[in-house]
Amino acid sequence: MRDFILRARKGPSTPDFSLGALPQTSHLEIVAHCIANAMFYSLRIRSSVRVHIVLDGPSDPPKIVRIESDLLGSLDGFDEQALTGVLREALMVGQGLSLYQERESRPGVFVAKRSFESLIRQQVAVGPMFVLQKRAQDIREIKLSSGSTFVFSDHLSMPRKTDKFLLRLGAESVSVGPKMLFASQCITLIHNELDRLYLP
Ligand SMILES: C[S@@+](CC[C@H](N)C(=O)[O-])C[C@H]1O[C@@H](n2cnc3c(N)ncnc32)[C@H](O)[C@@H]1O
Repeated sequence: MRDFILRARKGPSTPDFSLGALPQTSHLEIVAHCIANAMFYSLRIRSSVRVHIVLDGPSDPPKIVRIESDLLGSLDGFDEQALTGVLREALMVGQGLSLYQERESRPGVFVAKRSFESLIRQQVAVGPMFVLQKRAQDIREIKLSSGSTFVFSDHLSMPRKTDKFLLRLGAESVSVGPKMLFASQCITLIHNELDRLYLP
């Protein structure tokens, strides 16, 4: 299983946003690109991938939408509106959740009221965790294994105290190359490294 945790610090935690105004909604188009690159390759759904989208913005944080490729039915398309529509639908279904409660909004899509920190603690207990940073050890110098979790931010930088929290829990920082990339591009490169090693 490959787990990707995308922290959208200002991403909406309620469904009151327009699919026609994604850049104005904390650049949700970036989240859509991350979902697409995590879940799909040419016209196929990848197996054994989970993407966790941490939405810490208005109006009812924290919320985490999780998409599991092995359980996934149709997502109504690969475009930004379709993918953020799936996110908005999950947030609709997730209205009124109490802490740690979770609901499934469609096959393979889950919404939970829980924090980034609790998700990190869960994942670090089950396998290696890597925090994505441009200035860090090269991914090609690291021994990768299956069952890893990769943590990164959207267009906003990860707060320094969050990086410290991750490293204190045992996450390793890793770079996928010398340029500051979009989060979705990092996902593609990580998939490619794991694919080349034939790791699930
Ligand atoms: C668009 S970048 C964030 C830009 C933000 N202004 C900053 O300075 O962090 C989104 C995320 O992708 C990851 N990232 C981007 N380029 C990377 C690289 N070359 N190696 C590893 N991670 C990278 C980092 O986790 C970063 O937080």
